[in-house]
Amino acid sequence: MSTVDLEAKIPNNVGLRDNKRLLRALEKWQPAFLEWWKDMGPTDFNQNDIYLRTAVGVGKGGWAHFDYVKMPDYRWGIFLADAHEGRKIHFGDQIGSPIWNEVPGEMRNRLRRLIVTQGDTEPASVEQQRLLGHTAPSLYDLRSLFQVNVEEGRHLWAMVYLLHTFFGADGRDEAEEMLQRHSGDPDTPRILEAFNKPIETWVDFFCFTTFTDRDGKYQLAALAESSFDPLARTTQFMLTEEAYHMQTGENGVGRILHRTAELAKEGTDPRSVGAIPFDMMQRYINEWMSASMDLFGGEDSTNAAESFASGLKGRYREGDGIYKDPTALQHSYDVDVPEDGKLVKKSIPLRRAMNALLLDAYHQDCTRIASRWNRDLDRLGVDFRVKLPTQRFNRNQGLYADGYFTPEGEMVSKEEWERRRGEWLPSQEDRDYVRSCMKAVYEPGKFANWIAPPAQGVNDQPVDFEYVKFH
Ligand SMILES: [Fe+2]
Ligand SMILES: [Fe+2]
Repeated sequence: MSTVDLEAKIPNNVGLRDNKRLLRALEKWQPAFLEWWKDMGPTDFNQNDIYLRTAVGVGKGGWAHFDYVKMPDYRWGIFLADAHEGRKIHFGDQIGSPIWNEVPGEMRNRLRRLIVTQGDTEPASVEQQRLLGHTAPSLYDLRSLFQVNVEEGRHLWAMVYLLHTFFGADGRDEAEEMLQRHSGDPDTPRILEAFNKPIETWVDFFCFTTFTDRDGKYQLAALAESSFDPLARTTQFMLTEEAYHMQTGENGVGRILHRTAELAKEGTDPRSVGAIPFDMMQRYINEWMSASMDLFGGEDSTNAAESFASGLKGRYREGDGIYKDPTALQHSYDVDVPEDGKLVKKSIPLRRAMNALLLDAYHQDCTRIASRWNRDLDRLGVDFRVKLPTQRFNRNQGLYADGYFTPEGEMVSKEEWERRRGEWLPSQEDRDYVRSCMKAVYEPGKFANWIAPPAQGVNDQPVDFEYVKFH
């Protein structure tokens, strides 16, 4: 078990105290991070006391501590899951060899790219969400937002630790650039396009945490299999925090649907009371899920094949031994590909289909979430059911980027798609309406009219607990 140093300026379990060079470099980066937080993080709430969870270790169970804290005083730390004695590479070309504790020279660029791309999304999401506090539907939700935000900040720390520790001067430069790129900045945007548009409303926020954070889960899960052990251990621990972000999304969307269902039962038109109609929620779900599927990259990808072959990124739960062929050389992946206006069957060598496999696992996971929402709707006795879009719908990346498909995956003409777009994706009118519903509710235990209260509070506190204190 690693020793956790909570007293240090940067709490950690990576022995920073004994690595003076690294400690100096990170202590230099720390004030720049705090400056970034104040300039680009949540607006206006930095003086509030917020009931937050802080990571204080990595052991199962008691890894988290809850207390009131002002966000700029949050103890962002560096935590790696504990090492597994004698861990071996368990997939790809070097299967059976010892894992790496240093970066092999020939992997350096590819690995740095993976870490920088992952790392860049963490502060990007904080920037995208910076204005949401002003329209929070309750103190409970306001706290959730800030919990997600501070933990994304910690995830940036996690990636910066790797860059500083293993990539020398290049890594330090990259760490600095993480704070210089900004979401939506025309000159220095964030790396991935989905992270450059602001998250304007709480409906978007809950969809983002359901669908986009879940992409994050799958990317982290692929990296958690990595032969580069420090990366595997860092991402393993990030996943424990990430679970709460996705729960925030799932519960948030579920609570919106629940509220609308209650109104439907009473025969009240949700629009007449500032709640969100079912069909509008469905359009938001379609949009966010399809945009998030683009983050997986092309279904047929030589780049993904190389990351797998070299042992950098594994399949989802590769280490659990659920795949029969850990080299992925003996099988192929069948997929329907658009060609001359119709779909034709094509077989992709399995290694090149790694993104497609990860996307499949993601899609199944989302399907489980949707069926939980639908069970609740069933219980409430309404007819509406959420239907998730297939992997072909509204894609800008990969095999389906050039075609036009309905949410069910049926190929249609460009004209038909344009004509029916408003059935499937939020219109400007939808967005204006949703925005008009967003009004802050800051009284403990009270909730905006468009969302049901959660079933339970945080850390066994009651739902009407004062999760954020206004002085
Ligand atoms: Fe994250
Ligand atoms: Fe997250």
